[in-house]
Amino acid sequence: MMNIAVFVSGGGTNLQALIDAQERGEIKNGRIVLVLASNEKAYALERAKKAGIETAVVSRKSYGSKEEYDKAVLNVIDDKNIDLIVLAGFLSILGETLVERYKNRIINIHPSLIPLFCGDGFYGKKVHTAVLNSGVKVTGATAHFVNEITDGGAIILQKAVPVEQGDNEDILQYRVMRQAEWEILPKAVSLFCEGRIKITGNKTEIL
Ligand code: GAR
Repeated sequence: MMNIAVFVSGGGTNLQALIDAQERGEIKNGRIVLVLASNEKAYALERAKKAGIETAVVSRKSYGSKEEYDKAVLNVIDDKNIDLIVLAGFLSILGETLVERYKNRIINIHPSLIPLFCGDGFYGKKVHTAVLNSGVKVTGATAHFVNEITDGGAIILQKAVPVEQGDNEDILQYRVMRQAEWEILPKAVSLFCEGRIKITGNKTEIL
């Protein structure tokens, strides 16, 4: 059984999708053992407590550099035998130490079809604002491994979602979450825990 730590910063609807999938038995060979928040006010912490999952807060504001923050996070997770870190709406960028230590063992969910609308500065609703301003008719979500390049790691799963006339950021964000993120993130996590993701360079194959 793989031990999963889920990192969060906000509302935690993706965490909820993972908890619900776990309760339905859809995270095969994995269980969430820790939810770590970068912000003590994250509602995601309430969701974790309700599900009986251990929580920790490592406030991003309390640390200067990425490296100092990484050290503090590693202090919390190192003795917990974590096999997989899931970034579920975790809006801080991790440093090289943590990314290197957990190479090919960190999965992120991003609310667009990477390589579009991603990279530094593209997070949360900002992504959907950029999508709407661009005039594209299709967007979606991507579950991918994390490497040293923001949103640049190997893609695991993607799902497309239509942009409809009259959409605003809130409507589009909700459609992308409901139709794509809450589906592909638990699937990607389960595939990882089952050992079914083969990584070659920056590409993955589902076995
Ligand atoms: C989600 O849409 C997630 O894809 C996005 O933040 C939102 C968090 O919502 N993440 C990023 O933009 C990362 N670059 P949640 O807290 O309800 O899961």
